[in-house]
Amino acid sequence: MKNILLINCSKRKKNTYNLLLQAQENLKTHDFSTEIINLHDYKINFCIGCECCILKGYCILNDDVNILMEKLKKCDGFIIGTPVYLNNMSGILKAFIDRTCVWFHRSDIAGKPSFLIINTQGSGAKNTLKSIEESLRQWGVFSCGHALRIGSKIHSKPLTSDELSTFMNIVCNKTEYTPSFKDVSYFSVQKALAMNIFSLDKAFWIENNWNELYFYPNSKINMFKKFYGQFLYSMISKNLIKAKSNKNAISN
Ligand SMILES: Cc1cc2nc3c(=O)[nH]c(=O)nc-3n(C[C@H](O)[C@H](O)[C@H](O)COP(=O)(O)O)c2cc1C
Repeated sequence: MKNILLINCSKRKKNTYNLLLQAQENLKTHDFSTEIINLHDYKINFCIGCECCILKGYCILNDDVNILMEKLKKCDGFIIGTPVYLNNMSGILKAFIDRTCVWFHRSDIAGKPSFLIINTQGSGAKNTLKSIEESLRQWGVFSCGHALRIGSKIHSKPLTSDELSTFMNIVCNKTEYTPSFKDVSYFSVQKALAMNIFSLDKAFWIENNWNELYFYPNSKINMFKKFYGQFLYSMISKNLIKAKSNKNAISN
């Protein structure tokens, strides 16, 4: 049985939570096992910017972020639900994402299917969606759909199984994820940075064999996107190598 993690990023158990409950009901009727968690039940300190996670491979802060990261690693797919605050995601979600910076370099959850639920009183849903999707893309996560709701319509327009169908199919390997050009761009940039900048990243990408790919495994990528990804990767790598040798020449 596939296991889905649903994450409530509001302190309240109200609009976002109700939408997550609706998603949970739909998932249950399709035989998924589910767990709803509230980010506010966990201790999440702000990132202090030491970069230890990127450079050394560990975080010096001691709180519940490792528990949350483990949960994300273990699930077969996840749903993030957030209210819109000042036209963007809730602060606690941003604080959590900042703490996962290591996954922007060496993602343990690449290829995991995700779905977003965003609710607002009227403004900011699209900006919030874009903002979270950017982070998911850098986690290497597959964005398999979203539901946007305006507060007053949450009860009159419940979240349906249809809205979740792509997500459910990808979780069950019935459909392969098709990356967009933007997905391929991010992958190519991350690959170029990994292969040319940080040694830890390089070892991780080689270990996963991602350096040989145009996008993460278990996805379907056509020839044009492969060509585009290869072109971007070569261009960026060339520039990074040039910048490195210029830096060496100056310091000598
Ligand atoms: C601090 C704060 C900022 C908000 N900012 C916006 C906003 O920019 N645009 C908007 O339409 N609604 C905004 N809202 C309203 C919430 O997005 C909306 O009420 C949402 O449904 C609350 O979800 P919840 O019941 O899960 O907490 C804001 C609410 C709060 C508390």
